[in-house]
Amino acid sequence: MIKPVEIFRDTIKVIDQTKLPQVVRFEYIYTLKDAIDAIVSLKVRGAPLLGIFAAYAVVQVLRNIDIFDIERVKEIGFSSIDELRRTRPTAVNLFYALDRMEKILNEFHGNCKDKLVESLMDEAKAIDREEGERCQKMAELGVSLLPDRAKVMTICNTGYLATNHIGTALGVIYEGIAQDKIEKVFALETRPVLQGARLTTWELLENNITPILITDNSAAFVMEKEKIDAIFAGADRIARNGDTANKIGTYMLAILAKHHGVPIYIVAPSSSVDPILENGDGMKIEKRNKEEVIAFGGCPVAPKDVDILNYAFDVTPNNLITAIITEEGIFYPPYRFNRKD
Ligand code: MRU
Repeated sequence: MIKPVEIFRDTIKVIDQTKLPQVVRFEYIYTLKDAIDAIVSLKVRGAPLLGIFAAYAVVQVLRNIDIFDIERVKEIGFSSIDELRRTRPTAVNLFYALDRMEKILNEFHGNCKDKLVESLMDEAKAIDREEGERCQKMAELGVSLLPDRAKVMTICNTGYLATNHIGTALGVIYEGIAQDKIEKVFALETRPVLQGARLTTWELLENNITPILITDNSAAFVMEKEKIDAIFAGADRIARNGDTANKIGTYMLAILAKHHGVPIYIVAPSSSVDPILENGDGMKIEKRNKEEVIAFGGCPVAPKDVDILNYAFDVTPNNLITAIITEEGIFYPPYRFNRKD
């Protein structure tokens, strides 16, 4: 699978995910402004990938400046981190990764800019590698929850394009297919940005897996008619009590799952756990722009003056979640999370 984010010479090379599936277009990130634009415009998206990309972006900014006074370099590092923190509010992985980069800056006491950049690069690579290890572990754990010949449903995109590695919820599905335990994968289109339709189906097909794409509003009927065995979703932020923010529509799926007696599993690395937040009440849920809702592929589908409300995520209460899978294990309610660093 092509990496959606990687260091390439003196840039960060990313796949512009807004252009998928029509074209695989690479974009080269040189500056902080490029990085911020890539996050805000969803060229780079998905909770773990946001953290990985933001970490590389901090390195990118500092290695390309022609300033060698170490205090000034650090100041630029801190202010870049602050700006990156302001891009998207919900995925805690972004903040987790930036906190780690900030710690490296704080703890660096040398005088040599190159050495600082080297330490930051080591940390960014470690964040990237660790997310990969977590994904692999979750995939192995999650597969144990699958019955034979399972029919599974998933929402949004939680695979390579969201993690730089095998994925969270989609990682379990890749592993289930590799172990011949999955018969059918139903992917919700995931309005309004269509991460399911555009990205999940694309990356599964790239990996020779044929998913079945369904509209969001057919989820209940498909669950019933196709006898879905399990639903797998990712997370952008998990509170200590297990309340989970994920792509808008996940809460709806969890309610439907309860009605139909279908287990719904959240698959997310420990970097998606917010150790401060007691429950879902305080979660900052990103609201996005009107254009995403009133047009479809650039074509208007609603009067341009209509009022809209475009939440990018929702919060699924813990009592609707069958289990949460992190790299540390499969957790059942009552949930009590704490992130160890
Ligand atoms: O708005 P996006 O595309 O960044 O949202 C992504 C999701 O909601 C994913 O489900 C979540 O980040 C988990 S991905 C591993």
